[in-house]
Amino acid sequence: MLFLALETSCDETAAAVFTDELAVVSSVVASQTELHARFGGVVPEIASRAHLRNLLPVIDEAIGRAGIALADIGCIAVHHTPGLVGALLIGVSAAKMLSLALGVPLIGVNHVASHIFACRLAAEGDIYPCIGLVVSGGHTALFHCDTALSLQLLGGTRDDAAGEAFDKVAAILGLGFPGGPAVEREAALGNPRAHAFPRSFRDDARLEFSFSGLKTAVLYSCHGQDVSKAVPPPAGPKRADLAASFQAAVIDVLTVKCKQALRQTGLKRLAVGGGVTANKALRAALQEMCEKECAELFIPPMNLCTDNAAMAALAVEKWKRGEFAGPELDAEPNFL
Ligand code: KG4
Ligand code: ZN
Repeated sequence: MLFLALETSCDETAAAVFTDELAVVSSVVASQTELHARFGGVVPEIASRAHLRNLLPVIDEAIGRAGIALADIGCIAVHHTPGLVGALLIGVSAAKMLSLALGVPLIGVNHVASHIFACRLAAEGDIYPCIGLVVSGGHTALFHCDTALSLQLLGGTRDDAAGEAFDKVAAILGLGFPGGPAVEREAALGNPRAHAFPRSFRDDARLEFSFSGLKTAVLYSCHGQDVSKAVPPPAGPKRADLAASFQAAVIDVLTVKCKQALRQTGLKRLAVGGGVTANKALRAALQEMCEKECAELFIPPMNLCTDNAAMAALAVEKWKRGEFAGPELDAEPNFL
């Protein structure tokens, strides 16, 4: 049985074909990074319009690369929550249309649960029950995942997501958009101990996060507290030290919170997903922590960390349970 899945929740337009045995046959991602770069962040209306232009060509390519015809598809899946509502609506509308036209069932999939399921796709065997950490541009949250479809929120961010903090700090340091990869490259040149940046909630039993204070601390280190004065972004070793110290603070907090979640629940498996898990220093820190905790770490390969439609293979679990969506399926911007 072949599934076609669509992803349009933020700024990647993606389609993938996979089987009911979780074999990914094709996965196509069209990034909109260049469209948003000059604004320093994702502009929702531009994202929606780009999805509208790109989605049908991306679907065509996914079908073509799979070497099949649309008529071979037996089920349509779509990420319908959470995300930018105008962007989600493009994928949801297309998925409903395809399901109607082909006369096949429709399944709505939660994008955040899919980020964790990306680990299952990459793993040899089952990964559940586990602690799930999702760190992306829109989310930073820890879950107790009993199964792929039953996620209990343990805690999330009170303000910015970790990826958003990477993007904003990149803007402060004059490193461009998207910020994560640029900050990571700059951090490799600096001293992570140069600045003792705040680590909110680190030494607190609550599994919560907050990154806005850290972002402001980086801003004040660059400009002083009077940010009304236009100051050029730092350069050279000063910039590298700021990037390295910022990245070290984010990684420290994420790693400690995962350790606490493992200890508090007694679980011995950690599955992480979302764009920030593309960060090599974070991957190494989580690996080291899990080894010390005798826990198993699951991290998907890079192409499954950032937004894609293959991770919507979580739909297979819903299909097995007969959890289909009707024509009333809606785009839900907030996490369900
Ligand atoms: O999961 P994703 O592709 O989209 C959302 O659902 O948000 O995550 C995008 C986020 C961006 O904030 C980006 O800066 C961050 O992931 N990111 C990184 C790295 N690569 C992408 N953050 C840190 N280090 C990276 N190497
Ligand atoms: Zn995402």
